[in-house]
Amino acid sequence: MDAGRELEQILQTAQETIRTQTKSEQEVERQRVAWLGRKSRLTELSRQAASLAGEQKISFWRQFNRVKSAIEGELAGRRQALLAQPAGDAIDVTLPGRALPQGRLHPITQTMERILSLFVPMGFDILEGPEVEFEYYNFDALNIPRDHPSRESFDTFFVDLPSPQPGKGRLLLRSHTSPVQVRVMEQRRPPLRIVVPGRVFRPDPLDPSHSFTFHQVEGLMVDGRTSFADLKGVLDHFSKALFGPHTKTRFRPHYFPFTEPSAEVDIACAACHGKGCATCGRKGWLEIMGCGMVHPNVLKAGKYDPRKVQGFAFGMGVERVAMLTHGIHDIRLFFENDLRFLEQF
Ligand code: DAH
Repeated sequence: MDAGRELEQILQTAQETIRTQTKSEQEVERQRVAWLGRKSRLTELSRQAASLAGEQKISFWRQFNRVKSAIEGELAGRRQALLAQPAGDAIDVTLPGRALPQGRLHPITQTMERILSLFVPMGFDILEGPEVEFEYYNFDALNIPRDHPSRESFDTFFVDLPSPQPGKGRLLLRSHTSPVQVRVMEQRRPPLRIVVPGRVFRPDPLDPSHSFTFHQVEGLMVDGRTSFADLKGVLDHFSKALFGPHTKTRFRPHYFPFTEPSAEVDIACAACHGKGCATCGRKGWLEIMGCGMVHPNVLKAGKYDPRKVQGFAFGMGVERVAMLTHGIHDIRLFFENDLRFLEQF
């Protein structure tokens, strides 16, 4: 093959290879060495050209230089193109941002915080007590005597460990937050205004409205002159703040061993406004908590003098309040940790 045709062929193949087979700067360099390097066919041809003379010599070098700069141009073009193209790990600032998964509080925590936040401006302090409790605080100190049938309504998980203070009875998982009332009275002098959030336990089989564990918020206010009117005022204000300003409340006589008199607080059903529907079980009213004037025996257990101080107490179920405010019909949803449920709050 004469040198002229070979030069043309080298140019064609070089251009094609460089265009299609250089994905990185290293590959461009490899192609440069292959086509223009010391051991390349082009260099070899230039050496052989030493034997040429006259017209042949002139036309060879003219063609040689054109081919060489065309290949150099091709390589330079590829280098430019690779520089302009972002590498795989570079940041493309034009891409839309990636949303970070955001955590949120459990609906029970949210409801608990909401309830507490309504009592704090009325001067109530937030306190807590232990989940593993003595029989004494859970029952005896709350005027629930050993053989009294009302103990059965607070069916209890007992803890199978020797009691560290046998005088205070066996250990158990508290069945309500009321025991914290007496614990706090033992520690603080009146006047007293506290709310107590916490988890409680009862051996109930799981169903849409029962769980072996749930949460309560307890309240206690004691001073020289607190009356049932204060109890009604505080809880009526609370109910309106939580369920809406037009919420009607009703205080229905009831019995609790630790209060006298006792009542249950109902709110008029928001779904039917008291007419009676499926939500309220045709009653027109929804029970939201128990309350009453603290029984003199409970004040005595807390080393308070019932002739000098009096007070009211109340206790409500947090799951129940969350179910009412969000229209949830199954308590088990709160404990199953299904993200499809939790992500709605
Ligand atoms: N401890 C009661 C329960 O778990 C609720 C309760 C009722 C608490 C009346 C009180 C109260 O402080 O005064 O059912």
